Amino acid sequence: SIAYLNGAFLPLEAARISPLDRGFLFGDGIYEVIPYYNRKPVGFAPHMQRMINGLAALEIKCNKSVEEWRDLLDTLISQNEGDNFGVYVHVSRGADTKRFHAYPDNVEPTIFAFAFSIKEPEPVDRAKVHPYTVSSTQDLRWKRCNIKSTALLGNVMHFQQGYAAGNNEILLYNERNELTEGSSCNAFIVKDGVVVTPIEDNQILPGITRRIIIDSLKADGSIKVEERTVTMDEVRSADEIWITSSSKEIAPVVKLDGNPVGNGEVGPVWEAAFRIYTERKF
Ligand code: PDD
Repeated sequence: SIAYLNGAFLPLEAARISPLDRGFLFGDGIYEVIPYYNRKPVGFAPHMQRMINGLAALEIKCNKSVEEWRDLLDTLISQNEGDNFGVYVHVSRGADTKRFHAYPDNVEPTIFAFAFSIKEPEPVDRAKVHPYTVSSTQDLRWKRCNIKSTALLGNVMHFQQGYAAGNNEILLYNERNELTEGSSCNAFIVKDGVVVTPIEDNQILPGITRRIIIDSLKADGSIKVEERTVTMDEVRSADEIWITSSSKEIAPVVKLDGNPVGNGEVGPVWEAAFRIYTERKF
């Protein structure tokens, strides 16, 4: 596939960066994953605005606007074959001449992007969708989970914990037994027809899929949605659990720590919400 690195389009295999790049040495960077279905992006502006916010939080000087990112990534897509992509975009602080923790002056950020193929959206049909199973554990990541940092070891270790136990994700909760999110996704529950998800704070990534779902449900009006604290007791007695991300869209969860979620089947609110989201996501 064709990638973008520091101003040039080139085969992914030919892309090279310095071992002194602070993305490599310190995880000092910001990334995004933007889904493209039928070569059209979902949530492009909010994805790139979140990246711009993350770069500002880290004081990384990459001054591309949302429009400049759009041109760059449209060009990337035009050079790759396929219909459905995840586009990975990564800006690290760049390569210094030495390894020193303080932010260096006068380094050029490293800007990297590539497209990987993703499967087409799941059918809006309870009987046909591939459901997820999840574990749960205390969230042992840092207190700045709102920053989409390339330093993902905390997320990776949690994901592996769920994966090694035979699950495809893991739900995380804080020391007050409140749901935060998944290791690579946001989380929602449904109880008595009401959709509930934790508020945006430093304990979660402000997911773009999450936002599009909340906004779509509110605009549609047929399903009630709340952003508030969610306890693990509520999660364990929920009728439905969903996990959401750019690569999963809305994935229904049918098992939590080996126990069935609700009646153990994909729920009707998932199907209704996924239809509403699918109709409005672009
Ligand atoms: N993960 N929370 C975490 C910790 C995530 O890593 C992600 C996304 C999300 C969902 O955000 P969004 O809806 O904007 O994709 C929530 C990406 C896809 C990844 O790391 O591959």
